[in-house]
Amino acid sequence: MAEILVAVDRAAGRLVEQLVTGLRDGIRAGRITGGTVLPPSRQLAAELRLSRGIVVEAYQQLVAEGYLLSRAGAGTWVASGHTVEHSAATPAEPADSEPEFDLTPGRPDLAAFPRAAWVAALRRVLSNLPHADLGYGDPGGVLRFRKEIASYLRRVRAADATPDRVVAINGSAHGLALGLQALYERGHRVLAVEDPSADRPRGLLAASGMKLIGVPVDDAGLVVSELRRTDATVVFAGPAHQYPTGVVLAPSRRAELIAWARAVDGTILEDDYDAEFRYDREPVGCLQGMAPDRVLYLGTASKSLAPALRLGWAVAPPDLGARMRDLRGDSDLGGSVLDHLVMSHLIAQGAYDRHLRTVRRRYRQRRDALLGALAQELPQWRVRGVAAGLHVLIDLPPGSEETALAAAAQARGVRVQPLGPLRFAPGPPGLVLGYAAVAPGRLAQAARRLGKAAGEV
Ligand SMILES: Cc1ncc(COP(=O)(O)O)c(C=O)c1O
Repeated sequence: MAEILVAVDRAAGRLVEQLVTGLRDGIRAGRITGGTVLPPSRQLAAELRLSRGIVVEAYQQLVAEGYLLSRAGAGTWVASGHTVEHSAATPAEPADSEPEFDLTPGRPDLAAFPRAAWVAALRRVLSNLPHADLGYGDPGGVLRFRKEIASYLRRVRAADATPDRVVAINGSAHGLALGLQALYERGHRVLAVEDPSADRPRGLLAASGMKLIGVPVDDAGLVVSELRRTDATVVFAGPAHQYPTGVVLAPSRRAELIAWARAVDGTILEDDYDAEFRYDREPVGCLQGMAPDRVLYLGTASKSLAPALRLGWAVAPPDLGARMRDLRGDSDLGGSVLDHLVMSHLIAQGAYDRHLRTVRRRYRQRRDALLGALAQELPQWRVRGVAAGLHVLIDLPPGSEETALAAAAQARGVRVQPLGPLRFAPGPPGLVLGYAAVAPGRLAQAARRLGKAAGEV
């Protein structure tokens, strides 16, 4: 049985008619949807301070009109199919229909989300949680979460993490926004960003108020000599697996980057978004472990579990972390304590590690399937960044039209990401192909279609 909102003006008379109109309008407008069980007549009459007979009569009238259904013992509920489609008022559906093969990069396999483990952990958390812990949590994240994340990051990412340095965030984008706000307050005004890099956070980078400068990436990662030529004091980079090139920041560059940060009294924002997924290369620890005083580390569950969680973790130098925590408290009073506790439980019980092992195997198979199919269908394409992550980068043959190729692929049902929108400065043509969310057989089909699309442009 659902609560419903229906108003009746008792002074205006014709009460049955008013109630019938109010309910009918609510059903037609879609406010009261098909299947909704209405309150018993006695209850609704009491709420509206009407006699019960008026409600009974109104319900009977609507049953007669077909808007309601009723059965003795089961109550009265709304019949389906009476919502009137709004032409002008309802926003149009996006014109872009879902492609048959979506190779948009950065998407994990959402079908692999560990639903059963998550539900079991939530049940466990809720059955043990004192009532008092359902209040507002620490805006920086509940202590249990910060402890589990710190120990996980020390173990798996060689981070220099302690619970007091961890700040819970709603994904890395949120941590980035908080960190930039805190850095702006301290007078930082120029932000360097890897070129190319993800376009999704560009809006929030620009909203920081800092000037954005693209700095090139080569086969050894961010070109620090170019960074030194700028007046940036903050840099946003992905040392473990640069997006979209997949390059690992070389050891000499890591040392150079940290030296740069020390020299300019600067901060490195480390995007460690998919470091869990490496297949045939040595693990590389995070940069934060080498320079905890200079690095704001950003980790996320968006690739390892699902973006829908909006769950992430920052590890910050103490002053910066304290300010981020305060800013978080001032902006939204903190995140979901329950989600943080569920995540802590999954890590502590080993379920998160088990999940990562499962999806890593799956992604590796998909990566191999895509590489095999591309080698067969498009041997002229140079494929880069294959050793880790959820995507590969294609260097297209010189003179290729990446936008036309992406459009031709889209027309054949395959969505891919052209490299151009990820660049600051113009550069050679390329495509980024995500493989994690697509089954191996379908990747082979997608590659065949890409081969046909390439033959057309
Ligand atoms: C390079 C990169 N880092 C991080 C993220 C994840 O952002 P969030 O953790 O806010 O979901 C994305 C999302 O697309 C991304 O492309």
